[in-house]
Amino acid sequence: MIEVVEGDITLLDVDAIVNAANATLLGGGGVDGAIHRAAGPELLAECRTLGGANTGEAKLTRGYRLKARHVIHCVGPVWHGGDQGESALLASCYRNALSLAARHDLKSIAFPAISTGIYGYPIEPATGIAVREARVFQKSHPDMRIIFCCFSTRDAAIYKKTLGVLGV
Ligand code: AR6
Repeated sequence: MIEVVEGDITLLDVDAIVNAANATLLGGGGVDGAIHRAAGPELLAECRTLGGANTGEAKLTRGYRLKARHVIHCVGPVWHGGDQGESALLASCYRNALSLAARHDLKSIAFPAISTGIYGYPIEPATGIAVREARVFQKSHPDMRIIFCCFSTRDAAIYKKTLGVLGV
């Protein structure tokens, strides 16, 4: 139930896609910009009611014009070299997004590689955290479909390798 797909997360037909947002939750570049463009202005209007979010937090909105029914907005850490608590904060994003999805009775969730674009988190350790948190969560929620949506062939290969290497 953990899958790797390559492509544009805004096209996925799932209960929730996760957004790699910033603390304002009011849009930006990268996947955040793509999600807001595809969802339409109603998404920004709902985001304005949320009051932002802290790094590591996750907040849920509707999906509006997306195929996905919901968007879970996470604020990943900016990479500062690895000694500023980045790994714990990135793990919190995955944990908080997954438990929010479970609390809302969602059955499928797709993640981008949070923090690994504009925020500069190196892809290999970020993937290790994403896969570890997904596996831990699945022990208590075996029915949740978890998809890692990679924007490049290289990232997809790293996810597949990590899933294989860490596979139990
Ligand atoms: N579908 C799937 N993945 C995508 C897509 C897409 N359409 N577009 C980009 N990615 P980034 P961050 C990948 O920079 O590092 C924004 O301005 C991308 O290749 O989107 O968490 C926010 O407002 C990379 O693998 O997010 C924040 O200010 C991954 O998504 C800041 O960027 C994350 O890259 C957040 O930076």
